[in-house]
Amino acid sequence: MPETFSVGLLGHGTVGSAFATLLDQRADSIVPITGLRPRISGVLTRSRGDFEEILAGSDLIVELIGGVEPARDYVLRAMRAGRHVVSANKLLLSQHGEELWACAREHDVQLRFEAAVAGVVPVIRVLQESLAAAHVERIHGIVNGTTNYILSEMARGGLSYADALGQAQQLGYAEADPTDDVTGRDAAAKMAILARLAFDTPVHLDQVRYEGIEQLTADDIAYAQQLGLGLKLIGTAERVDGGLSVRVHPAFLYGGHPLASVHGPFNAVTVESDAITEITMSGPGAGGPQTASAVLGDVISAMIPPATTPETTQRLEIVNDVESAFYLHMEVADRPGVLAQVAELLGMQGASIKSVVQQGLGDEARLVMVLHPLLESRFYAALRLIGRLDFMRSAPRAIRVIEEEFT
Ligand SMILES: NC(=O)c1ccc[n+]([C@@H]2O[C@H](COP(=O)([O-])OP(=O)(O)OC[C@H]3O[C@@H](n4cnc5c(N)ncnc54)[C@H](OP(=O)(O)O)[C@@H]3O)[C@@H](O)[C@H]2O)c1
Repeated sequence: MPETFSVGLLGHGTVGSAFATLLDQRADSIVPITGLRPRISGVLTRSRGDFEEILAGSDLIVELIGGVEPARDYVLRAMRAGRHVVSANKLLLSQHGEELWACAREHDVQLRFEAAVAGVVPVIRVLQESLAAAHVERIHGIVNGTTNYILSEMARGGLSYADALGQAQQLGYAEADPTDDVTGRDAAAKMAILARLAFDTPVHLDQVRYEGIEQLTADDIAYAQQLGLGLKLIGTAERVDGGLSVRVHPAFLYGGHPLASVHGPFNAVTVESDAITEITMSGPGAGGPQTASAVLGDVISAMIPPATTPETTQRLEIVNDVESAFYLHMEVADRPGVLAQVAELLGMQGASIKSVVQQGLGDEARLVMVLHPLLESRFYAALRLIGRLDFMRSAPRAIRVIEEEFT
């Protein structure tokens, strides 16, 4: 009979219950890989279980409670007691990662968290192991399935944001309270974790600038389609002038970018480096059974050889003003000189126009353009002046464009 490996389970909700079922189903097949037979030794929820008892009877703790407290307290106590920990908690790791990783190193235990970013897509493992020698220059990610589903439906069916959100909620792709998803905060937490690993420098959620998708209109998506662009909520982490920029915002992509074809609730992450050109990983970003599969993968890894998250060796400065290309949508009075005045204000800030679509609408006209990259501060300075021109019929709308295509 193989020895038993006892797993204490904190949280028995969507992921926790799927994990318990999966572990039960796979226990026999894990024996030949690890020489041990895993079993759930205890479950903690708000209404059942005692943490100290579960800890005493476990070789490893799986944390699937979510949120910061009491998850942080339990994870720290488990590691101080010499237990490996597996967690899917992006909020916890993006705000207290350094404290937790330091504790894991101090007590020589493993803290694994593959399911915290992009669900079952094995991006953490790839960054920590396979790409450990690649000097990563940039990561782009679609790391929130809810918003990707909403934007896909707005593009495919011309749905409004509100209708697409309602549809996502009906199908279980969005929570009843979707705030963290649609404001970009969930994606920002995941990008903080990815940036920490890829660039070997501490990154806190508070250092990630993020914008959500609530202001986007089906109109913007339809116009941009004419310019060959598709809209996504993109997380970016990249080296800029010796520092690091980490941000999340809606962005247009040209069809040749690997993330342009990622639709619906899927997640995908593109890693760029001179050594590897680019690698894209994609797959389901959430869901109980899918996430549970990533959690169980971490448990199996923890049952075999040690792997710790090393201390950071870099202290990169976080850069906030970066270069970006922009899509600009303006409703204007249809009269001569409009385009010239807009172009002049843009030109004063060093912006140049890459492509334009102009459409007459009786007394009014719609002017949609894509600009070549410039510093965001300079673009927004021009945008403020453009917004004050007397022929503007409503506030101009701007969305960033990612120009890379890799074709
Ligand atoms: N859902 C997904 O698709 C997904 C995907 C990737 C990552 N994740 C991450 O996985 C984690 C779990 O998510 P979930 O969707 O499974 O959450 P969930 O369905 O809300 O389940 C949370 C569980 O934690 C328990 N819990 C909450 N507060 C507790 C407390 N103070 N003490 C003890 N137990 C407590 C709840 O107990 P009760 O049963 O008593 O309420 C419930 O069993 C989160 O970190 C989440 O970000 C989820």
